[in-house]
Amino acid sequence: MTITTDARAVRDRSTGPAIEAEHLVKRFGDMTAVDDVSFSVPQGTVLGLLGPNGAGKTTTVRMMTTLSRPTSGSARVAGHDVAREPELVRRSMGLTGQAATVDELLTGRENLRMMGSLYGLPGGEVRRLSAELLERFSLTDAGNKVVKDYSGGMRRRLDLAVSLIATPPVLFLDEPTTGLDPRSRVELWDVLRGLVRDGTTLLLTTQYLEEADQLADRIVVIDHGRIIAQGTPLELKDQSGKAAIVLTVSHADQLEAARALLAAHVPEVHVDVAARQLTAPADGLSDMTRVATVFERSEIVLDDLGLQRPSLDDVFLSLTGHRAEPPAGDSAETPTEPSTQTEEQR
Ligand SMILES: Nc1ncnc2c1ncn2[C@@H]1O[C@H](COP(=O)(O)OP(=O)(O)O)[C@@H](O)[C@H]1O
Ligand SMILES: [Mg+2]
Repeated sequence: MTITTDARAVRDRSTGPAIEAEHLVKRFGDMTAVDDVSFSVPQGTVLGLLGPNGAGKTTTVRMMTTLSRPTSGSARVAGHDVAREPELVRRSMGLTGQAATVDELLTGRENLRMMGSLYGLPGGEVRRLSAELLERFSLTDAGNKVVKDYSGGMRRRLDLAVSLIATPPVLFLDEPTTGLDPRSRVELWDVLRGLVRDGTTLLLTTQYLEEADQLADRIVVIDHGRIIAQGTPLELKDQSGKAAIVLTVSHADQLEAARALLAAHVPEVHVDVAARQLTAPADGLSDMTRVATVFERSEIVLDDLGLQRPSLDDVFLSLTGHRAEPPAGDSAETPTEPSTQTEEQR
């Protein structure tokens, strides 16, 4: 019997959530790194665990992936308790950490084959899967090159490919795109969307609000180890309630008339003369519809009229009072990398 078959059996047996955390707490001495964190991830969906550096993301992932024992609380992956059934949890999941886990001196293909044999897959199966994964991650040409010659983006893709060789139904990704250039980031997002389409459940940590917005079905925002907000990306944006009507007039000489008209219907108008643009706070779609009707009946010609929802950045700011910008030069690894050691072993 192969790990692949096991993993499928595990997935088929469990009909509940793919990932569950219940009141997870992790203390390091006096310091509480994770403070009563609970969430549940339905199968085939993506949870974004969003928070700034030091928020407790990696510590949470380490507890969920059996690398670290919770101080209190519990967690289940594919229905298996991380404390009582760590072996079954490990067979149901893949983990891509912040630090690349691949061997630099081997080629991409050799890395994949090595991991496949470690999982006990038969040789023919390993060769077939390796080729398939290299193809899927656009690494076929690079497959025979040693990894130390890979770009950052290629390494991340290989890292992900390696964690997929046993086709785990649940995948944990700890800041998968930190340190990648924008193009590699978008490429990786596409790969992740493909995995989810094929039924994989993802838990992804990120400091990038845009990334959570792009990929996650639900977002849990953590700061200083605590959950400070959760919901769909849309719900989170609605929470900060700072939508705005943005309107662009076609002719500069109609800007003043447009301002006066808008000002008669909303409490406050901001004018950007150079952009021929007016902005006004709005409660939502009904305000926007009202304004659209008013302008339709006027002589004013508009290039554009839209409702601008707050960005997740705005939401984070309104929730925490500070920005969630990753610190400069953040591509460096933090000292708390996921490793195969538990801290109890250190
Ligand atoms: N092994 C450890 N010993 C002591 N403190 C730790 C350890 N691991 C993490 N921490 C602390 O716990 C907090 C959360 O860290 P971490 O989970 O790595 O945050 P994130 O991944 O969100 O950046 C940080 O203040 C970090 O310094
Ligand atoms: Mg981290």
